Amino acid sequence: MEEKIRALQAQAAAAIEKAANSLEELDGIRVKFLGKKGELTGILRGMGAVAAEERPKVGKIVNEARAQLEELIAQKNAELKTRALEQKLAHEKIDVTLPGRIQPVGHLHPLTLTLERIKKIFMNMGFSVEEGPEIEQDYYNFEALNLPKDHPARDMQDSFYITEDILMRSQTSPVQARTMERNAKAGMANKPIRMIAPGRVYRRDEYDASHSPMFTQVEGLVVDEGISLADLKGTLELFLREIFGEKVGVRFRPSFFPFTEPSAEVDISCVMCHGQGCSACKGTGWMEILGAGMVHPHVLEMSGYDPAKVSGYAFGLGVERITMLAYGVDDLRLFYDNDARFLKQF
Ligand code: PHE
Repeated sequence: MEEKIRALQAQAAAAIEKAANSLEELDGIRVKFLGKKGELTGILRGMGAVAAEERPKVGKIVNEARAQLEELIAQKNAELKTRALEQKLAHEKIDVTLPGRIQPVGHLHPLTLTLERIKKIFMNMGFSVEEGPEIEQDYYNFEALNLPKDHPARDMQDSFYITEDILMRSQTSPVQARTMERNAKAGMANKPIRMIAPGRVYRRDEYDASHSPMFTQVEGLVVDEGISLADLKGTLELFLREIFGEKVGVRFRPSFFPFTEPSAEVDISCVMCHGQGCSACKGTGWMEILGAGMVHPHVLEMSGYDPAKVSGYAFGLGVERITMLAYGVDDLRLFYDNDARFLKQF
């Protein structure tokens, strides 16, 4: 009996030493000898057949063999685990001195950047930011702005009509009428307004270096008691100096818009030649930048405001145009092409 146990022990020890190349294999050996149905366990089970006086001795040998084998298995187990870890580390070695991979991060589109700048300047002067629909009623886009159905000035903004009475707005000016009307209908006619309204507008224009059938405008409207042309000039001059620099020249030229009277076209001194005259400003030294004027009394009236009590000014500027002049971009289409080589420069 003793010999049989010793032989089994030696066999198991050899198996552990040699055969165990993986943790699974080692576990197999453990089960084979020490498991519930294992060979050494089998001997313990068969103790009944051993003579009573032999039992303590045999039991002791079995237990010793068991303890030794368990110890060997534990050692081997630790060894295998270390080896596996070493292999894994060797395999997954990373060179921390390698330069990192740059994660490209996008940024705001140049038109958005300009719009944010414009908004900030006006918000700092206490203007609110309003919005209106891009799909607009003929009434707000034209009629409420003093352009009745057959008015020839409609031709300047030949538009995309959806139905007879609904169109893609050709300007942000309808937000003027909507804002005043909303106040008046809420029982707050003549409530002072100081707002800008940015947004997309649509016109049946060519698509070339300076035109696009879709572009971005910012409307401005200020209504209160005693608002004068001086307020308009002061505000726009301050705005234009913020965008184009302290030294920029600003000039107002008489013009015509059906919804303002008097109306003006506002120019800045040429951003290329600073007023000397060059090809960019066609030798004039000036560049047209926006349209403006005093809100026509009839426009106030149609939206429920009383021109006898309040007056106002309005302006409309093109965000593409301002961005082009501020950054020296010579083709408007670049803003819509989404060519990263262009966009990355901002
Ligand atoms: N809506 C005019 C346009 O698109 C610009 C403008 C706005 C002029 C407000 C005067 C006052 O051409």
